[in-house]
Order: sequence, then structure tokens, then C-alpha cells
Amino acid sequence: MRLLIAMVVATWSAGLSVSIAGGPQQSAPPAAASPMPSALAPEELNRLFPAGPGRDTTFRVCATCHPPEKIATRHQTREDWEETINAMVVRGAKVSDDDYPVILEYLAAALPLLINVNTATVEELQSGFGIKRADALAIVAYREQNGKFASLDDLKKVPNIEFKRIQMKKEAIRF
Ligand code: HEC
Repeated sequence: MRLLIAMVVATWSAGLSVSIAGGPQQSAPPAAASPMPSALAPEELNRLFPAGPGRDTTFRVCATCHPPEKIATRHQTREDWEETINAMVVRGAKVSDDDYPVILEYLAAALPLLINVNTATVEELQSGFGIKRADALAIVAYREQNGKFASLDDLKKVPNIEFKRIQMKKEAIRF
């Protein structure tokens, strides 16, 4: 995974240096592809994308190939948002050095990873925490036997799971 990120970043920076070396026409702002309209009602779009710094930038840069709601199909950690943005750059998204951190901050804050440990499925627990399927199954089995989790300490009681991984994402946990 590290390697993949490094490769994507390397590709991204290689792209950058090529465009910097590309000559004077590159210093002009990237050609503005117009954002695609959303198929959603405005209030629904506002619910998916809460007001905040970076919302306009994100729409301007990210909604040119697909409508903005496509972005909200994911809730993930900052690290994973970084990976998504890099993957979009590889696909051809024009993200300037100035816009990159603005978009990343907005997405990390507006669409964070949230895992409700009392309602999440085995698959959601597994992918959300990045744990083994056996661990996700153990959490669900414990929940079925003992009722809802109320705290991180409750989760710690699930036997034989890699609790460290759960603790790493504790800010994502909802009860
Ligand atoms: C150059 C075109 C392009 C731009 C610009 C672009 N994307 Fe994408 N994006 C794609 C393509 C192609 C897909 C995959 C096909 C699809 O699902 O529509 C995709 C899919 C996605 C998905 C869904 C991934 C999934 O789970 O299937 C997310 C999230 C996303 N893009 C976020 C972004 C963000 C954030 C930005 C702005 C940094 C962005 N996109 C800008 C082309 C683009």
C-alpha cells in the first residue's frame, strides 16, 4: 500500500515537473472544464456536502468528469482521500498545487470515515478498520451476545482482535 501511494505520488510529481518544464503556456491556469450539474435537489446536495471552506474549489475541480455526488459515495480517512485525489490526477484531473490541500482538507472534514460499531456490517467493519474478516466477525458476534457497545473500552473486551487497528481509527467510531 505504501509503495502504491509512493508510486502514485511519484507519478503525480513526475506529471508536475513535466508540466513545469512544459513551457510558458503552463503557467496559465488550467483550462477550466465546466462543472457538471448535479442530478440531486440542492438541499440533498447541501446535506452531502456541508458548507465549508473548500466546497467551491472541490466542486470546480472535481465535478468536471462526474457529477459531485459521485464524490460522496465515499467516506474515508484523510490518508485515503489523499489516495483518491491522486488516483483522480492519474485519471486526468487538473489539481493545482494551491487547490490540492484545500480539496484534501475539505474532503477529510466533510466526508470523514464514520463507523457505527453497533450497526456496521462485517464488511463495513473489515474495510473501515482495515481488520481481518475474523476480527470483524468477532466484533459482530460479541455485539449480538452482549448488546451495544458504549465506549472504546467495551470494544477492547472483544477477545482476540487486533485492537490496535481499531484504536488507530478511534475518531471515526460512532456508537
Ligand atoms: C478527469 C476526470 C476526473 C476528474 C476531474 C475527477 N474524477 Fe473522480 N472519477 C473519474 C473516473 C473516470 C471515475 C471512475 C468511473 C466512475 O465511477 O464514474 C471516478 C470516480 C470517482 C469516485 C468514486 C470511486 C468509486 O468508489 O468508484 C470518487 C470518490 C471520485 N471520483 C472523487 C473525485 C475527486 C475528489 C475529484 C477531485 C480531486 C475527482 N474525482 C475528479 C474521473 C475524474
